[in-house]
Amino acid sequence: MGDTVTVIHGDKRVELPIVCSADGDPAIDISQLRAKTGMITYDPSLANTGICQSGITFVDGERGILRYRGIPIEQFTEKPDFVEVVWLLIFGRLPKRDELAEFSELLTENELLHEGMKQQFQRIPVDAPPMAILSATLTSLAFFHQEFLEVEDKESIVQAAARLISKVRTIAAFACRRSLGLPFMYPDPKFRYCANFLHMMFSIPYRQYVVTPEVEDALNLLFILHADHEQNCSTSTVRIVGSARANLFASCAAGVCALWGPLHGGANVEVIHMLERIHAGGISPEECVRQAKDKTSPLKLYGFGHRLYRNYDPRAKILKVACERVFARMNRKDPLLDTARRLEELALADPYFVDRKLFPNVDFYSGILLRAIGIPTNMFTVCFAIGRLPGWIAQWKEQHTDPSGKILRPRQVYVGPTETNYVPMSQR
Ligand code: ACO
Repeated sequence: MGDTVTVIHGDKRVELPIVCSADGDPAIDISQLRAKTGMITYDPSLANTGICQSGITFVDGERGILRYRGIPIEQFTEKPDFVEVVWLLIFGRLPKRDELAEFSELLTENELLHEGMKQQFQRIPVDAPPMAILSATLTSLAFFHQEFLEVEDKESIVQAAARLISKVRTIAAFACRRSLGLPFMYPDPKFRYCANFLHMMFSIPYRQYVVTPEVEDALNLLFILHADHEQNCSTSTVRIVGSARANLFASCAAGVCALWGPLHGGANVEVIHMLERIHAGGISPEECVRQAKDKTSPLKLYGFGHRLYRNYDPRAKILKVACERVFARMNRKDPLLDTARRLEELALADPYFVDRKLFPNVDFYSGILLRAIGIPTNMFTVCFAIGRLPGWIAQWKEQHTDPSGKILRPRQVYVGPTETNYVPMSQR
């Protein structure tokens, strides 16, 4: 392959450079396209557009590969440690023992919320959606930590990141307790990251929740599998907001809003609703698949399909095995797991899904694992957000420390009226 691509339009020939990738698709650099041809590109869902160069996460959708900083996702499943992955994503390499200990200590130091922030929860309606609470509360970190509104040096970014990573689980747990009318449980510094979240979710003042290793491992694994996924909808949102030099808290809060959508992170809730409906006899698995294929029906097979994966999503593969392992270890059963297996079997044998290469994605089995842990359904996407936060921070940091970074500002192909005169009210 040459180093350039030639665009021929009429009698014009324009050479455009090729940007090589370390792995995966190379790209045509079109930054001079408009200047040289007077034309822009049209890629409405950005399916063919790279918006940045990034060294964080690699996805090969055809081969079903996902790597964080080059390390295959499967290699994090043996002894899952979310905080180690947080460090890896944000700082670019695996931490040494003392670096991990120091960062864990920083997370512990920052686990409490400002009392003013805690009081905010009392004013939120009890039935408020937890994703709304999460995005509003992450933005409001800017009220209480104004010293991080401009973070220029590496140390400030570390400090701001630690506050976000640590406080997000306190915010999430408080949002859940508020909706259940239960007292807030303060974080307990003796617990590690995931165990502390479980404690804040499930302990009550007179009864300490007992964190078992299988549940702690399952949550670590779940957060790790969600930790980053290159330029997905919420991450691109974080980058767009961050490109305006908006602060880290505001950029991540915007990411939460994007993640909330049912085509993105909100799909984990839709999957469970779909499985519950099947289990309750409201619809058969066969009818569910039939409606998902029917373009006139609003129903989709939630938890299936992905913009990048044309193969089994490696995260779904890991989660399916993890569900089975956790249920076996806990000596529990969930009929929704059988329903999910049946639905998957039907879809994977159906030409509609086979021809379109639609496979289970990360959201198909994650809800079943979260249910096994005891997390209420309305908290599923919040748990996705806790997991995804290090990815957003790493991407924001990469963008923020790139001296060539510019504000992100796409163009459009205008199809509205051409110049039209204003008509005074009396003549309309
Ligand atoms: N059920 C039924 N049909 C589907 C599904 C599905 N879940 N997913 C895709 N298709 C169909 C599309 O209708 C389209 O059909 P067509 O060629 O006849 O028009 C074809 O498969 C190709 O799909 P696209 O629309 O091109 O896929 P796109 O990349 O735009 O969307 C998305 C990806 C949003 C994930 C889609 O697959 C979907 O809606 N899935 C269900 C929601 C979901 O699970 N989202 C979570 C994704 S993972 C994540 O964000 C964490």
